[in-house]
This record gives sequence, structure tokens and C-alpha cells, in this order.
Amino acid sequence: MKKTLILLILVLAGCASTHSSIYQQMGGQEKVVEVVENFITEIEYDSRMFEYFKDSDVDRFHQKLIEHLCYLTGGPCKYTGDEMRQVHAGMNINEADFNHGVDLFINAMEKANISHPIQNKILAVLAPTRKDIIYL
Ligand code: HEM
Repeated sequence: MKKTLILLILVLAGCASTHSSIYQQMGGQEKVVEVVENFITEIEYDSRMFEYFKDSDVDRFHQKLIEHLCYLTGGPCKYTGDEMRQVHAGMNINEADFNHGVDLFINAMEKANISHPIQNKILAVLAPTRKDIIYL
């Protein structure tokens, strides 16, 4: 009986971990905020990327990017910003600049000590947004 109970607990624990969101696996809101703040610092110190952001409202970008990352990774947030297509339209972001942005985002995750398997899961949910960001 005791063995069955332990087995049941192990099975349920296994289920819980496979069904947990990327948001939970990366460490929840605290980590989302850390990654976004690291990313903003990366952009600030990168002249190529900063060029795009020089007229942007940093507080708004900070808040909307937190909501966006939380929402995309399955966290309990509602994204209240503008649609990706609308936001990036007119910027004419090319593939190289997009990839460079992704590199800075990877630096931000690295500095937040996100493990590589989780980094890959986060990148996989960001990847489909590419078509709504480049060459617009
Ligand atoms: C996976 C890639 C990206 C994602 C998920 C993303 C997401 C976002 C989000 C959520 C916002 C805020 C929207 C709002 O204010 O309502 C934003 C704004 C912005 N993004 Fe991106 N972005 C990406 C790539 C890029 C790249 C590569 C560039 C430039 C090279 C860029 C330039 C900007 C700029 C300049 C703004 C601010 C717009 C403004 O001030 O009105 N983004 N982005």
C-alpha cells in the first residue's frame, strides 16, 4: 500500500513537470523581468540595435515586453501592447538585424542563468513572431 502511494506520487509529480509551462520552468515572473531588463541593457549598449530604439518610450517597451514574454511562455499575463506587425511596420528590419536582436536576447537569457534547454524552448515560442517583424 505504502509502495503504491509512493509510486502514485512519483507518477503525479512526473505529470506535473511535463505539463508545467515554459514560464514556470524558466522561473516565473521574476525571471521574465530579469531577462527583459537584461535585454534592455543589451540594447542600450549596442549602437546597431539602439538606433532603432532611440525615439522609443523605454518604460512602455519594458512593460509590454514583460507581458509579451510572460504570455508567450504560458504565464498568467495578458498582452496589452500593439500587434507585432503593427509595432514593427515601417522599421524595415532585415534578417541580419533580426538575428542580431535574437543574439542580444540570448545574451540576456545567458546572464539570467537560464539553462540552455529552457533557452531553446523560449526561442521556439519567439520564432513564429519573426514573420510579423522583418521586412515590414
Ligand atoms: C523575437 C523578436 C522580437 C519580439 C518578440 C519583439 C517584441 C516587441 C514588443 C512586445 C514590443 C512592444 C510593443 C508595444 O509597445 O506595444 C516591441 C517594440 C519594439 N521593437 Fe520589437 N520585438 C522583436 C524584435 C525586434 C527587432 C529585431 C527590432 C529592431 C531591430 C525591434 C524593434 C522594436 C522597437 C524599436 C520597438 C519600440 C516601438 C516603439 O517605440 O513604438 N524589435 N517589440
